[in-house]
Amino acid sequence: MTALARLREYVREIEEISAAAALAAWDQRTHMPEKGAEARAKVLGRLERLAFERVVSDRMGELLAAAEAEGPSSEVDRALVRVWKRNYTRHRAIPPDLYQRFVETTARAEHAWEKAKAASDFALFRPRLAEVLDLVREIARLIGYTESPYDALVEEYEPGMTASRLRAILDPLRRELVAFLGELERGRAPAVLPRGTYPLDRQRELCQKALTWIGYDFAAGRLDTSVHPFTVGVGPGDVRVTNRYREEDPFSALFGALHEGGHALYGQGVDSSLAWTGLSGGASFGIHESQSRFWENQIGRSLAFWRFAHPHLVRHFPHLAQTKPEDVWRHVNRVERSLIRVEADEVTYNLHICLRFELELELVEGRLGVDELPARWNEAMEEYLGVTPPDDARGVLQDVHWSGGMFGYFPSYALGNLYAAQLTSAAEREVPTFWGHVERGEFGPIREWLREKVHRHGQVYLPEELCRRVTGEGLSAEAFLGYVRRKYGQVYGV
Ligand code: CO
Repeated sequence: MTALARLREYVREIEEISAAAALAAWDQRTHMPEKGAEARAKVLGRLERLAFERVVSDRMGELLAAAEAEGPSSEVDRALVRVWKRNYTRHRAIPPDLYQRFVETTARAEHAWEKAKAASDFALFRPRLAEVLDLVREIARLIGYTESPYDALVEEYEPGMTASRLRAILDPLRRELVAFLGELERGRAPAVLPRGTYPLDRQRELCQKALTWIGYDFAAGRLDTSVHPFTVGVGPGDVRVTNRYREEDPFSALFGALHEGGHALYGQGVDSSLAWTGLSGGASFGIHESQSRFWENQIGRSLAFWRFAHPHLVRHFPHLAQTKPEDVWRHVNRVERSLIRVEADEVTYNLHICLRFELELELVEGRLGVDELPARWNEAMEEYLGVTPPDDARGVLQDVHWSGGMFGYFPSYALGNLYAAQLTSAAEREVPTFWGHVERGEFGPIREWLREKVHRHGQVYLPEELCRRVTGEGLSAEAFLGYVRRKYGQVYGV
């Protein structure tokens, strides 16, 4: 047996353990009875530990060295070695004791964050956040970096990305968006839809339909309800989505379904030869998010989509019968200076991310102390979005990420928006009558294009390499800026 074949076999073990963990975690968030929580936490902890021990084992080191010496000949084999060597090296850099401390500290910090958010009091969270930040900086030091400790952290989510590259892209994007936001305010406000309630079962039916439209395979997945929508790949032929529903607003669930559906199409579209290799996830968090944003925003918030979807919406919610497709399109493309990232529109969303990126970069590089964080947050909100949070809950405490030690994660959201716009431009060039298909509700050709260009490759290419192969250029904010200027200029008549 070749060294590569032995590596594949060993990796398969890890992947199968992780699949069991994914299934247990999905169940925990969808169907598990309350009293099962404690036992489930133990089971999940055990499974994750079994997988982790293999990733950092001496045996993994030997197999990787042997596979490298043998010289992987195919693109897939080279990616296999690259991805597992990265996992191995990054995790081996962190001593088990320190990792254990990180797991415990972030668990405590998450708990403290929940309480602090409920009480809207940053002081309750501050000492825990300081502990997490110390550990994160120590971990970055151990992993190693050349320019910024942030580089060691962002690499986890976006291979090849650095703080300086993010700055070069996000700083100009922020300035353009702040100016554009001012311009929009001189335009006319979009339509308001008649009030009404939206029965949850009808919303669920519509979401189910929307997933079918875009080609989500229900024989290889399912739709359930959870507090926060998510997508999970349990294994080949099993990629599940969840959603949530609000009686007063059908669009939150509908766009949630398109968003998670986009993630799920990626998972369902990966080539079957990549199953159990560890290459069947996305190229990066940013690329994964580009797939969700593509269906949610580029398609789902387009006028062409609403020309197709409007009759379906009316059939489910008859009190909207007097509206026109254009009204709904305007309604779902309102822009607001808002406090909360997860409720933000396409124009302001990236500003929320720019703020978080800058602040977490300053924290990680030691240029900002935890004590000064709330004041700095509010200042930046005023500068970028023109609003000041009235309290910590709607300000610095709104996101869970930092309590979990996930520094370097936020930029993925912005990168997803940028990549999605770049992919749309490429698809408009390459898929004949792209918008005609959307208007007729024929999403097959578009999905197949994405499958061929993006999905089937899984993690074989690095994110920017993939972007270059598909669009002919690396990561750039140009396509996104052109897109928001065009669409929102039209919505607001500026
Ligand atoms: Co997402």
